[in-house]
Amino acid sequence: MGEQANHEKWEGEQAREGGRAGQPLLLGVIGDPIQHSKSPVMHTAALKACGLAGAYLPFHVKGNRLEEAIRGVRALGFRGINVTVPHKVEVMDYLDRIDEGARLIGAVNTIVNDDGVLTGYNTDGIGYIRSLKEEAAPELRGKRVLVLGSGGAARGIVYALLQEEPGLVTVANRTAVKAREMANEWAHLGRLNGCGMEELDEVLPEVDLIINTTSVGMHPHVGDCPLDSRQIPEEIVVSDLIYNPLKTELLQQAEVRGCTIHSGLGMFVYQGAYAFEHWTGRTAPVEAMRAAVLASMHQ
Ligand code: ATR
Repeated sequence: MGEQANHEKWEGEQAREGGRAGQPLLLGVIGDPIQHSKSPVMHTAALKACGLAGAYLPFHVKGNRLEEAIRGVRALGFRGINVTVPHKVEVMDYLDRIDEGARLIGAVNTIVNDDGVLTGYNTDGIGYIRSLKEEAAPELRGKRVLVLGSGGAARGIVYALLQEEPGLVTVANRTAVKAREMANEWAHLGRLNGCGMEELDEVLPEVDLIINTTSVGMHPHVGDCPLDSRQIPEEIVVSDLIYNPLKTELLQQAEVRGCTIHSGLGMFVYQGAYAFEHWTGRTAPVEAMRAAVLASMHQ
C-alpha cells in the first residue's frame, strides 16, 4: 500500500475509533501558566459527546523545554495539541509544516500529528469569525470594521476578517505605528488602514462593527473601556474578545446604545472546535463544548 493510501486508512481509523487503530486519542494543551485553561474541560466534553475514546490534558511547559515537549508529541504519539501563551510564536521553529494562514499571522495555536509529521495551524482568527457570524453579524462582506489593538490576537482576527471581503478594516492602536505597520504588511489582502486612538473621532461615525482585541476591561479591571462609549454609533455590532467578564464595560455601554453585542466566549469555543475537527475529522459538538466552558466558569 502506498504512503498516501496508508495515511488515508490511518485517518479513517482515527475518525472512527478515536486514536490510532483503536488506541485512545491523545490530546493536550501546552502553556505557561496553564492551570486556568478551560481547554481541557471543553475538549473532554467534546470527546465524550462524540463517543471518542481519548484524553485531553494540560501540560505546564516552560520556554526552555518547548522543543523537548514538541519532540515528546511525536515520541508519545499524541494526535495533536493546542499551544497557548507564551509559546505560539516560538513553537513554529519546531514543526514540519505550517499552514499558510498561520505563517502570515505569525503564530500557531493548534498542532496536528500525522504519523510523526507535525503541522501547525492558527484557529484563533477563523474561530472568532465563525463565532461572530453565527452569533452576531452573519454578513461581513462590504462592512466597515474598526479593530481596537494590533497585537497577536488582532493579527489572527484581521487576517481571517479580510477573507470575508469587508468594505474597510481600520486598525486603531495606542501605539499608532504598530497599527500602520500591520496595514502596510497586509495591504495586498484587502482594504486596510492603521491609525492611533486619537484619530477615532473621524473613524467611529462610519463603522458597522467594532472589535476590541486589547485587554482593556479584562478581569480584574472590569470598569475600564477601550474607547469613549459615547462615541459608539447606535445599533451597530460591538464585539469583545474578552470572556472574563462575559459582558465587559464596552459591551454594557454598547448594549445601552442599542447595539448587538458579542463576547469572546464564542471565539474560545470555535477555535477549539476547528482544532477538534482537525484532529478527529468530525464536526465539533459546539453546544456541548460551550456548555462545559460555561459550567466551569460558574464553579
Ligand atoms: P494579545 O496577544 O492579547 O493581542 P499583545 O500582543 O501583547 O497581546 O497585544 C496587546 C494589544 O492590546 C496591543 O495592541 C496593545 O497596545 P500597544 O501596542 O500600544 O501596547 C493593546 N493594549 C494593551 N493594554 C492597553 C491599554 N491599557 N490601552 C490601550 N491599548 C492597550
